[in-house]
Amino acid sequence: MNVIIKENYQELSTYTANLIAKFIRSKPGCVLGLATGSTPIGTYKELVRMHKEEGLDFSQVKTFNLDEYLGVGIDLNKPYHLDQSYARFMYEELFKHINIKKENIYFLNGLTNDPEAHCRWYEEQIKKAGGIDLQLLGIGRDGHWAFNEPGSSLASRTRVQALTKQTLDDNYESFYKKAGIDRDEMPHFALTMGIGTILEAKNIVMIANGIKKAEVVAASLEGPVTNQITASAIQLHSGDITVVLDKEAASKLKNVGYYRHVENLKLKYNLL
Ligand code: GLP
Repeated sequence: MNVIIKENYQELSTYTANLIAKFIRSKPGCVLGLATGSTPIGTYKELVRMHKEEGLDFSQVKTFNLDEYLGVGIDLNKPYHLDQSYARFMYEELFKHINIKKENIYFLNGLTNDPEAHCRWYEEQIKKAGGIDLQLLGIGRDGHWAFNEPGSSLASRTRVQALTKQTLDDNYESFYKKAGIDRDEMPHFALTMGIGTILEAKNIVMIANGIKKAEVVAASLEGPVTNQITASAIQLHSGDITVVLDKEAASKLKNVGYYRHVENLKLKYNLL
């Protein structure tokens, strides 16, 4: 596991975008797993800049998003109404600015009539695409990955999940409130890739910033593996893991000295 600690959010975003861009350049037809939330916004901005200014090419890239609120969603082929779906978020923050093909974008559809069948379909599409090459993840304040709330099985698959009060509060503050939507109108359920699904991604990049995430970052990287902090499943992943943090999010880690030492060694030997 590489733990990279950056001075601030901007540096974290640039570093993460560079890492993803490098990956796309080495495998133009790669399959990316993408995340929502406020944390990846800077990374997406930087990827858009690289597309516009440096010709970063998304024409063969496929994407699968981690999760979606149940009850909202958009059809990218039709004009969409303003909603707080993750599909809309992705379209606004990334997809409408780059040359990705619509047919290569996969979302869990929050408007599905049959969530269970839809979740099975999603898993099949991931398999058909050859699996996720690189999965980008944030972390919720209750330690969740995607919408895998405390208590989720670490072997869980894509499914419906009820959201915790903490998650509802956080996501209301970050998104719904700004859009003038009433707290009670916010969806209380979501569709989410499971922890088992996420762990099958070949490479994992987790990002976190700010003091609010410090405790849960330390618990997930250095504490016991537990279904109470589903991001702690990162310790079970067998592929390449990179965790990119700002100084505040890293402030409760015990082994910072070692992480910095490893980063310097890898830089010296050109291994990063
Ligand atoms: C939501 C998403 C997660 C995300 C988390 C953190 O709950 N489902 O995938 O990691 O929010 O969000 P933020 O980046 O806004 O802190």
